[in-house]
Amino acid sequence: MQELKQKIISHGRALNDQVLLVDSFLNHQVDVRLMAKVGEAFANHFADSGVTRVMTIESSGIAPAMMTALELSVPLVVMKKQNSAITRGDVYTAAVHSFTKQTEYQLSLSAKYVSAQDRVLVIDDFLAMGEAALGALNVISQSGATVVGFGIVIEKSFQRGRDRLLDKGYEVYSLARVKHMTKDHIEFHE
Ligand code: G4P
Repeated sequence: MQELKQKIISHGRALNDQVLLVDSFLNHQVDVRLMAKVGEAFANHFADSGVTRVMTIESSGIAPAMMTALELSVPLVVMKKQNSAITRGDVYTAAVHSFTKQTEYQLSLSAKYVSAQDRVLVIDDFLAMGEAALGALNVISQSGATVVGFGIVIEKSFQRGRDRLLDKGYEVYSLARVKHMTKDHIEFHE
């Protein structure tokens, strides 16, 4: 998505060769017009996949996921992060370790908001090592629902997340694929 790549170049900042800061339009302040276009791009791509629910993980995935759900006219379900394994009622959970943030959390999804008949599109802001995406896959699979694919706003293609999801047979549709970055240069895959 050309407009997104331009925004990354003009407003993003590579902290080093691993971490891209996009606080001014995605992670802190949100460019809602850009998010509307992001939602449209995901919805168009997955239009024939029979999506019944869009899911994401709190918090930065919510903006692009909400615009996608709006375009597809399906509910948005936000998976929760908790620090402990304490859960109430019928809740699917999985432990997630983030390599990027060096944190551990419990991902949870209430059984009330997903069923075995659902076809789920997972949307997230970043794909790095893929721990969050694999955690999402774990909790959604516990419900018996089908994951139709992953829509990613920014993929860091030099990390393993994409390959780990492809190896499991899932489609990964990323709007910007960062091939390589340094403090003063960001290069994308075409
Ligand atoms: P991981 O396997 O390396 O941990 O990566 P994963 O894709 O699971 O991402 C873990 C968290 O780190 C996510 O945020 C993701 O958005 C964030 N992240 C990964 N790489 C970058 C990066 O280059 N820049 C920025 N800004 N964030 C990155 P999260 O824990 O879900 O937090 P939240 O921001 O959504 O609340």
